[in-house]
Amino acid sequence: MTDVRSPQQSPYQVDALIAQDIDAYLDRHQHKSLLRFITCGSVDDGKSTLIGRLLYDSKMIFEDQLAALESDSKKVGTQGQDIDFALLVDGLAAEREQGITIDVAYRFFATEKRKFIVADTPGHEQYTRNMVTGASTADLAVILIDARKGVLTQTRRHSYLAHLIGIRNLVLAVNKMDLVGYDHAVFDEIVADYRSFAESIGVTDFTALPISGFRGDNITSASANTPWYAGPSLVEHLETVGLDAEADQAKPFRLPVQWVNRPNLDFRGFAGLVATGTIRPGDPVRILPSGKTSTVARIVTLDGDLDEAVAGQSVTLTLTDEVDCSRGDVIASAAAPPQVADQFEATIVWMAEDEMLPGRSYWLKLGTQTATATVQAPKYQVNVNTMEQLAAKTLDLNAIGVANLSTDKPLVFEPYADNRSLGGFILVDKLTNATVAAGMLHFSLRRSQNIHWQPTDVSRDTLASLKNQKPVVLWFTGLSGAGKSTIANAVEKKLVRMNRHTFLLDGDNVRHGLNKDLGFTDADRVENIRRVGEVAKLMTDAGLIVITAFISPFRAEREMVRQMMQPGEFIEVHIDTPLADAERRDVKGLYAKARAGQLANFTGIDSPYEPPEDPEIRIDTTALTPDEAADLIIARIIP
Ligand code: ADX
Repeated sequence: MTDVRSPQQSPYQVDALIAQDIDAYLDRHQHKSLLRFITCGSVDDGKSTLIGRLLYDSKMIFEDQLAALESDSKKVGTQGQDIDFALLVDGLAAEREQGITIDVAYRFFATEKRKFIVADTPGHEQYTRNMVTGASTADLAVILIDARKGVLTQTRRHSYLAHLIGIRNLVLAVNKMDLVGYDHAVFDEIVADYRSFAESIGVTDFTALPISGFRGDNITSASANTPWYAGPSLVEHLETVGLDAEADQAKPFRLPVQWVNRPNLDFRGFAGLVATGTIRPGDPVRILPSGKTSTVARIVTLDGDLDEAVAGQSVTLTLTDEVDCSRGDVIASAAAPPQVADQFEATIVWMAEDEMLPGRSYWLKLGTQTATATVQAPKYQVNVNTMEQLAAKTLDLNAIGVANLSTDKPLVFEPYADNRSLGGFILVDKLTNATVAAGMLHFSLRRSQNIHWQPTDVSRDTLASLKNQKPVVLWFTGLSGAGKSTIANAVEKKLVRMNRHTFLLDGDNVRHGLNKDLGFTDADRVENIRRVGEVAKLMTDAGLIVITAFISPFRAEREMVRQMMQPGEFIEVHIDTPLADAERRDVKGLYAKARAGQLANFTGIDSPYEPPEDPEIRIDTTALTPDEAADLIIARIIP
């Protein structure tokens, strides 16, 4: 058994095939424990050769593939009897690396004692996100070193990432020992070198092995070429190393609820995968975030009730009480529950081509929980080659940084270092649905526990009725020079003449005060609109008719402000002026400057404008005067 792809298959077919294969394969080795590991290194370090060798030695290559491999090896002129195991794996690599999305090849093999899934993650820095994806469920990482080269920048990067992702077992495989004459001193020097680096990143323990993937030394059994090495072979080590699943069973019980199983009125069960710990009928549990307590009545599975369930098992629990519990809740040990918070510090690995925009709302998915999250500007970015902390305003593709984030509702969580399933999350773009980041929660911010909503006695309804009006936000959007300020001004004057209470927030003006610190990068524009949205919301709470005139170029932020307002109180007004017209008028002379290269990030020139798809009001300025436009807008809000 090996990778099942052939170049003609689309990625989708391949996924389906792999899924079928995994099932069939794992079935056959059901009784064996499973170790997931990743291999880090580049083809030059002999990674493909090593993986090919592991597959070959465990007899997991089909006969026909073996024949093809032998003839290919002859074609490329490998000397002697040796099969070039790298061919087995590399044939797929080129195809794989063209992939546009995050792509990791998984391979399966088994020995007498255990079965294995190895994630083959590409080595280069531009594949950081692939490595993070492949490693997120791994028990162990094999860090390959070329004995002739020693510890390299990429060795440090891979080790840092593996440690960051929470892989507890690191194997330093010093490969190509045959090419340095199986020299004990070379091995010792590399290990000592690596140890001092490992300590600097907080790795206290690792297993070092002298191997040759090409010659087979210390792969499945002790090699006669390294009499000075008394430790296990690579396979022996992989067969006996402690599994995360075993460690997880010793932790307090947590079951993130995937769905509520309610086939009839007599049965209500909570289905999910036990993330950590052990559970038995009669155990007291607490449901989070609500904090309600109950007791486990039954542990139901398709094969009948269980006396006990442990981490890694999918079960349905029934409780002795009729408590509220739904998807996204976590059923936990009553005595040692996880925490609940809505503000956190986290490490974030950015995985999208578009940079992170602090202040933008993303979906945050943490196990079965989903929330809206905003990330603040990074505290720092980590240089993954040197581990230095660098100042950063945002995170680009493959960048790793530490930032605070907040969610719109409380999340049940644990620090990632204690519990991967309750501490690891992804961020998803709300408009494209693409995964843009992976993250690891460090801790909750204490302020999230110490700030409470203060109830006030005078309601927003009272404030609005005193003014005899219904609060509303007229949110103008459009290019610079489209006429937003002019029309907004006309609208306000007319409303005031009608004895309405208004306030006009204008881009240029707000940027003189509240938003003086912001420029025109995407990130600054996002923050500009976020703040203006918050201010507009407060003003509607005060009962005002708020008119805002900002370019507000991004759909995501306009949508965010819409969500902040009461239903029906956000009215998007697109001041629709063709770029050519705005540029021809060029009231402030800014288009001329932008065209001359004296003004960067200018909307419509070298910074995007995303027109509204379905605004409440669209003003075609080529057809209407500002006065007509104002009348039309007012007609929409004043009956
Ligand atoms: S927004 O994109 O963040 O919504 P905002 O409406 O506050 O922009 O500010 C836009 C105004 O700032 C423009 O009308 C123009 O007068 C001025 N300005 C200065 N530099 C730029 C730029 N690079 N892009 C757009 N507008 C700019």
